[in-house]
Amino acid sequence: MTHPSSTVVSHTDWSAAIRPRARIGHTIEVHESIGSTNDRARELLADAGGDGGVVLAETQTAGRGRRGRSWVSREGLNLTLSVAVVPALQASHAWQLGLATALATLEACAPAAPDAGLGLKWPNDVVARDGRKVAGLLLETVMSGDRMTGAVLGIGINANWLPEDMPTEFATRAASLASLAGADVDRVALLDRLLDALDTEVMAVEAGHSPLARYRRACLTIGQEVSVDTTAGLVHGRAVDVDAGGSLLLDGPGGRVALSTGEVVSVRAETPA
Ligand code: BTN
Repeated sequence: MTHPSSTVVSHTDWSAAIRPRARIGHTIEVHESIGSTNDRARELLADAGGDGGVVLAETQTAGRGRRGRSWVSREGLNLTLSVAVVPALQASHAWQLGLATALATLEACAPAAPDAGLGLKWPNDVVARDGRKVAGLLLETVMSGDRMTGAVLGIGINANWLPEDMPTEFATRAASLASLAGADVDRVALLDRLLDALDTEVMAVEAGHSPLARYRRACLTIGQEVSVDTTAGLVHGRAVDVDAGGSLLLDGPGGRVALSTGEVVSVRAETPA
């Protein structure tokens, strides 16, 4: 385990999750506190051997979420990490890396809360059956022409953060693996599963295997009546599928629309036919 820029490391011994012979997780850099693990992982992209390096923090002072939001987590309770990847991928396949990362995160989380009905909310949140968010992903990419030359897979998983300790604005919308399972989660084992799954998923995408079919099966948004916050405003409709480019297909009052970005902000109970 290397700590080139950290001063104090976590009290948790994360070394069991290092995978010396694997691509993803051959190094795990642990910080007690950092601005954003995504920023540090972006620096790793420039290092020889940076591909597959993991940056993990017990707390972030400037954690970022999707769509310009901040990401809030409680020190020492959750899993907050970024993976630097130098992918062998065309820029046009960037969306597949997002889907693959979401599937890997779901695969890692599911054994910790087997009865929670975990699945994916488009595009890449891990949610419980009741819609409460358990994990979020922030994928940041570096492109050069038609190639993706770098990617940072930023992942935040609510592991042992109990809703009663969350800020009130999250408590109704978020859950943790521990709150769903009724028992503490072993964060090192969770990280181990995550790195294992990421290794498999990233290399599958690079080898030309699209994660789309498996993503569709895991996506709880499909089949629901939803409202999606887009740059053009709120769009309402029934989510019918995710298309061959990763866009969400909505059947709304004006017909079918394909949304390439956005945030599902509400899910409505279906009205009887
Ligand atoms: C979202 O759901 O809005 C995405 C959340 C992503 C949070 C993770 S935590 C580790 C990494 N570092 C960051 O600053 N953000 C991501």
